[in-house]
Amino acid sequence: MPPPTPIEPKAVEAITGDVKAANAPSGQAPPSGCRFRCIACGDLSDSAVQNFRCSRCGDLLEITNPRWSHAQGSSAPTASGLKTTWKQRRDSLSPVDLSGVWRFRELLPTLENLHQVITLREGNTPLYELPQCSRMLGLPHLFAKHQGMNPTGSFKDTGMTVAASFARQAGFRWVACASTGNTSASMAAYAARGGLRSLVLVPEGKISWSKLSQALDYGAVTCQLRTDFDGCLRLLQELVLRAPVYQLNSINPFRLEGQKTLAIELLEQLDWQPPDHIIVPGGNLGNSSAIGKALLEMHDLDLISRLPKLSIIQAEGANALVRTLREAGGKRLITVEAETAATAIRIGNPASWKKATRVLQTTGGACEQVSEVEIARAKAEIGAEGIGCEPASAVTLAGLRKLLKQGFVKPGESVVLVLTGHLLKDPGFTMEFHRGELLPATAESDSSLLELQALRRPPIVLDATLDAVIRTLEQQEKSDLQA
Ligand code: F0G
Repeated sequence: MPPPTPIEPKAVEAITGDVKAANAPSGQAPPSGCRFRCIACGDLSDSAVQNFRCSRCGDLLEITNPRWSHAQGSSAPTASGLKTTWKQRRDSLSPVDLSGVWRFRELLPTLENLHQVITLREGNTPLYELPQCSRMLGLPHLFAKHQGMNPTGSFKDTGMTVAASFARQAGFRWVACASTGNTSASMAAYAARGGLRSLVLVPEGKISWSKLSQALDYGAVTCQLRTDFDGCLRLLQELVLRAPVYQLNSINPFRLEGQKTLAIELLEQLDWQPPDHIIVPGGNLGNSSAIGKALLEMHDLDLISRLPKLSIIQAEGANALVRTLREAGGKRLITVEAETAATAIRIGNPASWKKATRVLQTTGGACEQVSEVEIARAKAEIGAEGIGCEPASAVTLAGLRKLLKQGFVKPGESVVLVLTGHLLKDPGFTMEFHRGELLPATAESDSSLLELQALRRPPIVLDATLDAVIRTLEQQEKSDLQA
């Protein structure tokens, strides 16, 4: 067997987010049509180094494209022109048009060659009404944008198609991420489709088996590290400076560009009438940042006439942003030792906290936290709608309940919950909940116990007789009538 090809440290210097951009003459927009701007010092550059941090101050970068702003006058795309183009592409059979991300490519960085896109037909996710939750909360206009209906079962696919395509265009062989499970599943799939090798760093014993099994099946080199997510991400940031490995965490601004399309598609589904509120879960805070960026760009381009309030909900045990805003006025990050059964958002040191803080300020959104009991209840309620989601997504409904009580959301207003992951992402949580094994008895107060009990549907083991099944039906019918 030939020895493995060593990873050349020399190659690292040549790597940028966009190799062509690095070669663009100064003062002229690079071929991708976009530049990198530091979110703290505002420094603009045509290329980014491997860790996607500002070479001056070390803060995060965001992608900016002069074509998307009014400042460009007549060269800016018109709102009605964009709406028509995006609608027409729905009739097309070309792979880029079938993607619910690349269909909106006017608001994405431009690939040199659209045939280079790595796509699994991501996006195109449904917007569901939630009639039972609507009635329960007294909110007539309650919707769920279900990003769990993406090809690998989470919202990560919308960002991954963009970032993985740029990784391949830039000539990388390896892509890598730290993950609580969904990013790794998505990255592994897109790498496999694009002929790239992928390296996954996950916290040992802290991610669901479903997500881990996806990464294995899609062929990733999967390392379970004896640390938490924050430890994995720290290590990855060092790794990408030492080896020619392209990082696909949401620190990578190309990921956030793709994730913007969630909001564009949502507004298109609402016929460009903005809802009053959009509510998202907050973990590493990339998704909220991406949605906020999309809302601002759409507003800038007159695609929408006003901004919805974007609110972020965290688990009480992983509430770094909540504490940062309440205890430090959003000025410095307060990190926490994260602990929650919603493992997707078990993050204590969120990378994009500054971007998310800015989005909350600009859109006037709120930031709340919810308990483990509240998450479990909300997840079962979304399940009972025949939709389902993973625990991290359910924080949105639990948070909405709180925001309604506080009067931040008013009964007549329209609300969209962003469900980030599919029910089947974490069957362990679901089984434990229905069997009554999820929460310690002390966590359930008398009133919440009754509410949770009503939502539980444990499997029933019976003798294989007709009598036994009919008796069960009758019992169920009786308790339904009493409810
Ligand atoms: N919901 C789900 C299902 C997630 O997987 C994540 C993050 C979030 C919400 C939070 O999104 O980080 O953009 O604020 N999962 C990452 C991962 C961290 O590695 O899969 P965020």
